[in-house]
Amino acid sequence: MVKIAPSILAADFLHLERDVKLVNDHADLLHFDVMDGCLVPNLSFGFPVMEAVAGIATIPLDVHLMIVNPDKYIGRFAEAGASYISFHLEAADESGKDAAEYIALAKSHGVKAGLAIDPDIPVERLFPYIESVDFFLIMSVFAGFGGQKFIEDSIGRIATLRAEMERVGVIKDIEVDGGVSSSNAKALIDAGATMLVAGSSVFKADNPAQAIAGMRF
Ligand code: DX5
Ligand code: ZN
Repeated sequence: MVKIAPSILAADFLHLERDVKLVNDHADLLHFDVMDGCLVPNLSFGFPVMEAVAGIATIPLDVHLMIVNPDKYIGRFAEAGASYISFHLEAADESGKDAAEYIALAKSHGVKAGLAIDPDIPVERLFPYIESVDFFLIMSVFAGFGGQKFIEDSIGRIATLRAEMERVGVIKDIEVDGGVSSSNAKALIDAGATMLVAGSSVFKADNPAQAIAGMRF
C-alpha cells in the first residue's frame, strides 16, 4: 500500500504540535524538509525543530536533505530520530563524490537511504543505484519551495524508473515530492510511486485527515 508523507514545511509553525498530532493517526510518514540556501535557494529548519517534532511524532520521520555535503549531517539526523533520509544526486555532483558514499553512510546509521533528483536531472542517472538504495525521491517540482505546481512529466519519469527496476528484477520504493494531491495521486501510483509527499494539499486542507485518505488508491 502507498505511504503518505505529509510535509511539515506547509504546517502552521505557531501550531506545529497541533499539526503533527493532526496527521499522526492518518499518515504513514512525516516528511521533514531541510534546506541550506546553497543546494536550493531557500532555508528551512534543522536539528532543534527536528528534535521537537521527533518527540511528538508517532509515525517514522522521513528527512529530505536539500543540502550540500549531506554526509556531514546524516549521522546527526539519524540520531535525532530519522527513519528515512534522502539526499540529492546534485549534492554528490557538486562535491565530486559518488552518491554511493552517501547511501552507504545512511545505511551504516540504520536508516533507509534515499537518492533524490530534481526535474532537470535525467532519471537514467538513478539506474546505477537501484541495487544499493532503499528508495528514490523523484522531485515533481524544483526543490526549494512548497506550494508549487506539479510537473506532469514526473509521471513518465517514475514509469521509466519503475520499468528499469522491473527489467533488472529489483524493486525499490519510489517517493514523489512536489504538488502532489488527490488529483494526481492515482496516476503517480499507477506509474510506480509508492510514497507520496504532500505539503499544501494536506496542511492547507480544511480536513487534513480526509485529504490524506483521498490520496490512497
Ligand atoms: C520542496 C519540498 C517539498 C514540499 C512539498 O522543496 O521538498 O517536500 O514541502 O510541498 P507541496 O506539497 O506543497 O508541493
Ligand atoms: Zn521534500
